[in-house]
Amino acid sequence: MNRLPVVVLISGTGSNLAALLASARGEDCPYDVVAVIADRDAAGLEHARAAAIPTQIVSLSAHPDRAAWDQALTAAVAAYNPHLVVLAGFMKLVGPPLLDAFGGRIINTHPALLPSFPGAHGVRDALAHGVKVTGCSVIEVDAGVDTGKILAQTAVEILDEDTEETLHERIKAVEQPLLVEVVRRLTAAR
Ligand code: GAR
Repeated sequence: MNRLPVVVLISGTGSNLAALLASARGEDCPYDVVAVIADRDAAGLEHARAAAIPTQIVSLSAHPDRAAWDQALTAAVAAYNPHLVVLAGFMKLVGPPLLDAFGGRIINTHPALLPSFPGAHGVRDALAHGVKVTGCSVIEVDAGVDTGKILAQTAVEILDEDTEETLHERIKAVEQPLLVEVVRRLTAAR
């Protein structure tokens, strides 16, 4: 089977990346992770190195301004000619160059039930608001902050004793299979 190339962007521990890589080891998987790009020396890059997948760091501080970083990030992604770009805990907003090059083919996973609690602190904000149910969302990326089309969601109950860490761990446990399912769906459709 001809597998479609996927580039994954990360900033953190890469548990969602690890789930995508584990799924790609299956014979029936419709995608291959062909590169992992980070905006910093993210711990999650180790998952890619262990799987002998090319990695690259494109950090904002290594560029004169945001526009130059946007161009460099786009060039780094485009070099792998991906069918799909997956933001898996990538904690920077992507700019017009990446959206122009891959519009409609960039997805993001977010640890809240959008449109509630967008932004960098989805778990903390849900806890602070006192909602009883939160979850995760996989969305299509557009020019806004977590405003793109919602592709899939899973709900997670908030417990009285939850901290940001315990809640985030339970969210990640359902987020990983959800992201894998959406990536498989988007790469299986020809
Ligand atoms: C994930 O929970 C993801 O939803 C979140 O960062 C975590 C990364 O975990 N992303 C955002 O908050 C984006 N606004 P991981 O590095 O273990 O995959």
